[in-house]
Amino acid sequence: MAELNRPFEIGGIRMDNRVVLAPMAGVCNSAFRLTVKEFGAGLVYAEMISDKGIVQRNEKTMDMLYIDEREYPLSLQIFGGDKETLVEAAQYVDKSSNADIIDINMGCPVNKIIRCEAGAKWLLDPDKIHEMVSAVVSAVDKPVSVKMRIGWDEEHLLGVENARAAEAAGAAAIAVHGRTRVQMYEGTANWDWIRKMKESVNIPVIGNGDVETPQDAGRMIAETGVDGVMIGRAALGDPWMIYRTVKYLETGELIAQPTPREKMDVCLLHFKRLVQLKGEFVAVREMRKHAAWYLKGIRGNAHIRKAINGAESAGEFTALLNGFADEARAIEPSAV
Ligand SMILES: Cc1cc2nc3c(=O)[nH]c(=O)nc-3n(C[C@H](O)[C@H](O)[C@H](O)COP(=O)(O)O)c2cc1C
Repeated sequence: MAELNRPFEIGGIRMDNRVVLAPMAGVCNSAFRLTVKEFGAGLVYAEMISDKGIVQRNEKTMDMLYIDEREYPLSLQIFGGDKETLVEAAQYVDKSSNADIIDINMGCPVNKIIRCEAGAKWLLDPDKIHEMVSAVVSAVDKPVSVKMRIGWDEEHLLGVENARAAEAAGAAAIAVHGRTRVQMYEGTANWDWIRKMKESVNIPVIGNGDVETPQDAGRMIAETGVDGVMIGRAALGDPWMIYRTVKYLETGELIAQPTPREKMDVCLLHFKRLVQLKGEFVAVREMRKHAAWYLKGIRGNAHIRKAINGAESAGEFTALLNGFADEARAIEPSAV
């Protein structure tokens, strides 16, 4: 089992274990990342950041570059369709941020991004991948990685060519989500393709898609040979998924699920950090979706979810979650 948990490196940056938090827009800011990091993640990715936002020094974009030093190692993901601005943004991240790794998004499937010739659009064109990645790699000192999907659609599965193009261009690692662009988030992730892509390159590959349990992570490593396992949706409202996976890969042991009280305590810690990061008004609103994720699976949560959606202040929000934690404990000690 210990072999399942071995450390790995990306361009000289060492990850203590193979468990990686996926980049998730609107989710993976410093408040969430730090909380997940404390549950043992080997590497955390920040949410994708627009190259143009960085180049134009857009205030909201610049706020997204904030990294707490306790988050290290951290990969900061940028996206863009223009070589010039992508390179300029990467240089800014290289010189003026504390990120350890610069990641380039070439997996985002949404139309708004595709229309800008960014994200998954590149999956149709290995030459473009080579050109863009080379330009960034030669302009920065930090290691550069890419996150891609296996292809555009079933007729355009260029995963192997794309992975090789990224490697030839100097990418230090590749993360692969085992879906095509047209699948969006539907269907299942194709781990066979992840294996093929892993076998086609010599740089570290991080596998991603449909890892819902610690056992899934072990299975992905065994079936595909990937160096890291990236977890996205299963970590929403559930940093224990990260901890349980690290422990499972280390020892084969499955740690018990948290109690409602434990869940609410971590939700409140995450919330406190979000208030510090974004101020009370924004944090209360952004935390509503997170709270719903933390509450998932706890019996009798419907009324509290409704109440939280109406909460306007940090005090109100905190009191609701504290009240619910006590109530949930009284009904069933570990009803999760
Ligand atoms: C809410 C949300 C936001 C996402 N944002 C990003 C992003 O900013 N960059 C990126 O490369 N992938 C993004 N993804 C894709 C995830 O990183 C991951 O590839 C995908 O969710 C599959 O992994 P999973 O099955 O573990 O969730 C996002 C996914 C979700 C659910």
